[in-house]
Amino acid sequence: MVDSDKKAAALAAIVEVQDGMLVGLGTGSTAAFAIAGLGARVAQGLSIRAVATSAASERQARACGIPIVDFADVAQVDLTIDGADEIDSRLFAIKGAGGAMLREKIVAASSARMIVIADGSKRVDRIGRAKLPVEILPFGAAYVLRVLTEMGGAPVVRGDYRTDQGNIVADCHFAALDDPRTLAAALAAIPGMLGHGLFLNEVDAVYIAENGIVTRLERTGASA
Ligand code: A5P
Repeated sequence: MVDSDKKAAALAAIVEVQDGMLVGLGTGSTAAFAIAGLGARVAQGLSIRAVATSAASERQARACGIPIVDFADVAQVDLTIDGADEIDSRLFAIKGAGGAMLREKIVAASSARMIVIADGSKRVDRIGRAKLPVEILPFGAAYVLRVLTEMGGAPVVRGDYRTDQGNIVADCHFAALDDPRTLAAALAAIPGMLGHGLFLNEVDAVYIAENGIVTRLERTGASA
């Protein structure tokens, strides 16, 4: 059921993709359904180009015939479709269980519109229960981990894991996430902290599927 809901959300979202668009492709099992669906539309004549948020998504997209361009040459993406680990009604999200949050954040920030796709298990009242992944430059690992610990993040390094950029990831768990904006600013201020999974400004809409029924939430303006 979860997989069919992931697919339902993905297929609803890709209806927004139109000829000529430069599309941002997310990472993870839900985004994979969107990539497969877009591949099928490309096979039927849809003309798009895409950038990928991970090597895995790039491989999948190329395999299903979606033309990939180098994001290093792209200043603006038209529409990005990506999954999330948690999403709330403010359209605050936690992402990065798959470790791709740094590229995902950059691509999302560059996008005129960013859509999260998810099954109903990802919908929460307030984000904060999911682990919050942090990408760390290996050179600064001990220092960044010390600061994260002092902040109450209880970081746990993913053993033997490296991101597509060759960096390490620590999963944090803060006891309370009452003020995600203040936490995001504090994380961003740590030298050597390269990216984190709090997406507070990037998400414009979410398609959530539950028992086959897809609901769309749009960002309506300022959020707390
Ligand atoms: C990848 O780094 C993540 O941000 C994913 O988008 C997120 O973990 C959701 O993945 P699933 O769709 O596999 O649950």
